[in-house]
Formats: sequence, structure tokens, C-alpha cells
Amino acid sequence: MARVVVLPGDGIGPEVVGAALQVLREVAPDVTLEEHPIGGAAFEAAGDPFPPGTRDALAGADAALLGTVGGAPDSAWNHLPRPQRPESGLLRLRQHLGVFANLRPVQVMPGLEHLSPLRPEIAAGVDLLIVRELLGGAYFDPRRGRGEDAAFNTIGYSRAEIERVGEHAFRAAQERRGVLTSVDKANVLEVSELWRDTVTAQAQAYPRVTLNHEYVDSVATLLVTRPQRYDVLLTENLFGDILSDLAAVLPGSLGLMPSASLGARTGLYEPVHGSAPDIAGQGVANPAGTILSAALLLRYSLGRGSEADRVEAAVRTALAAVPTRDLGGTATTAELTAAVLRAL
Ligand code: NAD
Ligand code: IPM
Ligand code: MN
Repeated sequence: MARVVVLPGDGIGPEVVGAALQVLREVAPDVTLEEHPIGGAAFEAAGDPFPPGTRDALAGADAALLGTVGGAPDSAWNHLPRPQRPESGLLRLRQHLGVFANLRPVQVMPGLEHLSPLRPEIAAGVDLLIVRELLGGAYFDPRRGRGEDAAFNTIGYSRAEIERVGEHAFRAAQERRGVLTSVDKANVLEVSELWRDTVTAQAQAYPRVTLNHEYVDSVATLLVTRPQRYDVLLTENLFGDILSDLAAVLPGSLGLMPSASLGARTGLYEPVHGSAPDIAGQGVANPAGTILSAALLLRYSLGRGSEADRVEAAVRTALAAVPTRDLGGTATTAELTAAVLRAL
């Protein structure tokens, strides 16, 4: 029987995960859901943002569903030694699971164009996928350091690291509209030269995919002025982090954005947004990104594509009827969740 490890985390994490669990229990009542602490909550409970109990629970699990981690700007957590901070717990979780390919789909759903702050002719029909490398680059490179008046980080990639995430991007493009845009800064960075060469060589194996290379600064503009030109975007870790928050402008809110992180047996599913300390505890967070992440979990880790389709359709119906505050509406977390359950 399928087993999912549930990691609510900090801030609005428990609120949005609570919503997604209601939906999962409705469409997949046979799945075992097991909650464990992560992030700041785990540091408070166990002195470690990714404690051994949580790590052990992941062994043999089919998937993990995560809320968010991290505190407010003035949180004491931000002054802990880096390995003990909430965000380090998340990075260690990703590394432990070996999930190097982070898929962040961005869709302006039919009938929800009005939720985008962009003009409808720009936003309508947008359906793109950001494939973000998740276990390399500046985030994990050991060549880093901080002195009193100087500090440095390093963006290092090996050909093998580029190839394994590239494979996910090519395969996705092949199953979609067949256009892959590789994002880099090859006009300045050696690591981007290797990225570009590697992806170009890989393209031989995917004759049905058209490969383009674009500079990350240019992509930042085109993503919000001509988003319909993109199908799959392949990026290194930090570029993908930034571009995916930017891409949230297209559907209308960061609260709508789901993600799936794949690579090894146990997939990790989490919304793209953070712990939103400014609204945490108020019951007004948009749970759609987490519910849609649960849909991705059903599709990719549990092989239940038709349930995933049902959840996605129900979220669309609910958002059209009762948009949350981040989308200019008034619905609370509970009201949107109830609307999703009704639409199911
Ligand atoms: P954030 O994503 O938490 O919030 C940015 C803005 O978006 C805020 O105004 C917030 O209220 C709003 N927002 C985010 N999610 C929302 C939702 N579901 N519904 C309605 N509004 C939503 O980014 P931040 O403020 O830069 O970071 C806050 C904390 O979260 C930091 O500690 C940061 O390190 C952490 N963080 C964690 C993750 C993660 O767990 N994956 C991701 C990003 C940031
Ligand atoms: C995200 C977050 C994380 C990241 C942080 C919290 C470590 O911003 O999932 O996008 O940068 O990967
Ligand atoms: Mn981010």
C-alpha cells in the first residue's frame, strides 16, 4: 500500500498542507499519510531542522509532501549556524532523497485568465514547464566561505549533473510541444559554456525536440512579455529559483504554483512559495499550490493520473468560484478547500 510522508513545516506550511491532506484523503483514501517535523518546527522539537526520525520515515516511502520552511525576517532562526536553519533542513531533505530534477509547471488555466495581472492576450493559454536543477550549483558547492569583509560562493556543475537533469527536460519537451529552451549566462560564465555544450550534444538523442539557448536576463523579460513562446525551460539551480517566482506572475499568484522534485525512488512535492510569515496563522493562505502539488504526487509517484486530473479540474472550478485574497478575492483557506472538495 502506498505511503506518503507529510512534512508541514513552518509558517503557512501546516495550513496549506492541511488543505491538501483533506483532498488526498478524499481521492485516495487508501494511501497512508504519516506526519513528521521539518524546518524550524523540527529545530524547536528536536534541535535539528531535518531530524533522524524524519529521515528514517522516508525510507521506502513512495513520496513526500512538504509545506514550507523558514521564519520571518526577524526570526531567531536566521541567526542560527547555517546547518541548523530551517532552509538547511529542506536542502538536506532534497539531497537525502536525491531529487535533482525540480519540475515547476506554470499554467494559466482556461477560464482563469482574469486572475493574472498581465493583459489577457499575454497570459491566455500559457502552459510552460520550468525544469530546475535542484542539487547543484551555488546551493551545494562546497567552495564557499564568509570572512569579516569578504565572502564567496561558487557555481560548479559537472557534465554528468547537467546531463541527468537535461534528460528530464528533453523527455518532458518530447511529451509536450517539443520545444526546449535552455537558460544560461554563457556570454559571461564558464559554467554556462559547459551547460550549453552539454545540452547541445544531448539534443542529438532527441530529434523531435527543437532546442534553443537563451540568456537568463533576456528570459526574465520574455517570460512576462511573451510567455506563450515557451514550452520547457531548463535552468541551473539559482536561475530556476528566481525565474519560477517571476513566472508566478503569469497565473496570478505565488500561491498557485506547485512543484515535483524527481530523481530517485521517493519524489518530493511542495509548493513553490515560502512560509509567508506576513499572513501565517490567519487562515487566509492560498492552498492551491499545495493541492496541485498533491495532484502531481498522485500522477508521478502513485501512478494515479486520473485522480490527479480530477483534483486539477476541481481546483480550477474552485478558484473560478471563490478566489483567495492573494488573487483579489475574499475566500479563506478553508473556504477554497471546501470548494475544491465540493467540485470533486
Ligand atoms: P514567501 O513566498 O513566503 O512570501 C512572498 C509573498 O507571497 C508574501 O507576501 C506572502 O504572503 C505571499 N504568499 C506566499 N505564499 C502564499 C500563499 N500560499 N497564499 C497567499 N500568499 C502567499 O517568500 P519570503 O517572504 O521571501 O520568505 C519567507 C520565508 O519562507 C523565509 O524564511 C524563506 O527562507 C522561506 N522560504 C521557504 C520556501 C520553501 O519552504 N520551499 C520557499 C521560499 C521561501
Ligand atoms: C524554493 C525555496 C528554497 C530554494 C529555499 C527555501 C531553500 O526558495 O523552494 O524555491 O531556494 O530552493
Ligand atoms: Mn524559491
